[in-house]
Amino acid sequence: MSRTMEDFRERKRRGQRITALTAYDYPTARLLDESGIDIILVGDSLGMVVLGYQDTTQVKLEEMLHHTRAVARGVKRALLVADLSIDTYDTPAAAVETARRLVEAGAEGVKLEGGTTHVAQIEAIVRAGVPLMAHIGMLPQSVRQEGGYKVKGRTPVGAERLLADARAVEKAGAFSVVLEIVAAETARQITASIAIPTIGIGSGEYCDGQILVTRDLIGLFPWFTPKFVSPEVHVAEEIRRAARIFIERTRGSVC
Ligand code: KIV
Repeated sequence: MSRTMEDFRERKRRGQRITALTAYDYPTARLLDESGIDIILVGDSLGMVVLGYQDTTQVKLEEMLHHTRAVARGVKRALLVADLSIDTYDTPAAAVETARRLVEAGAEGVKLEGGTTHVAQIEAIVRAGVPLMAHIGMLPQSVRQEGGYKVKGRTPVGAERLLADARAVEKAGAFSVVLEIVAAETARQITASIAIPTIGIGSGEYCDGQILVTRDLIGLFPWFTPKFVSPEVHVAEEIRRAARIFIERTRGSVC
C-alpha cells in the first residue's frame, strides 16, 4: 500500500479531519499551501470558474496539464491531485496514460468521476503506482445527462447505490473518495462503512474531510455560488472596487 493511502487511512482512524481546496494557478496554490491545506486539487471546475465554459464537459486534457504545471510550481507541502478530464479515461489503458501525463505535469495523485462503473480504471491507475481519489454522488461531467446539479442518495435505493459505489472504489484501491452533493444521512452512512476517508462537498458535516472550490469560498466567482457555500470573503467586490478607484484616478488626472 502506498504512503499516501496509508497516511489517509491513518488520519481517518485518528479522527483527523482532512481539508482540501482547489487551485488552478501558481499564486493561489502557493497561498493555500502556505496556509496549511492538506490537499490541493486542480479540479476540472477550472472550466467554469477560470475558462468561462458552461460546465466541465468542455475541459480538455491540455488545459488540465497547463494548469497542473502552474499549480505544481507553487506547492511544496500539500498533496497535489489533478482531475482526469472528461473522455480521457474511457478504458483502463486510457486512464493510465492520462494519469501518467498529469503526474508528469506535477500531480502526485489523480481524481476521476465514477464508482462501480470505473473499477477497472481505478485498479489500473493504482497498479501503475498513482494514488487515486474517487468521486461519487453528483458527477459534474455527467451534468448534461442528469439535467442539473441534483442531490444524490436521498432515497433508500439511491443511498444503496452510493454505498455500493463507495465500497467498490475502496476495494479498487482509491485512497479517498469525494462525495458531491450527497444527502447528509447517506454521507454519514458511507463514512461509517468504509476505511478510506470521505471528502464531502455539499454533503453535510459527517464526512472525514471537506473540499470546496476556492473561488466559491473567497467570492471570486460572484455570478454563481452553490447553495451550500457561504463565502468567507468577497474578493470579486474588492477587484471591482480597486478597478473603479484606478479608473477614476486615471481619468481624473491631468496629462
Ligand atoms: O472539479 C472540482 O473542483 C471538483 C471538486 C469540486 C470536488 O471536482
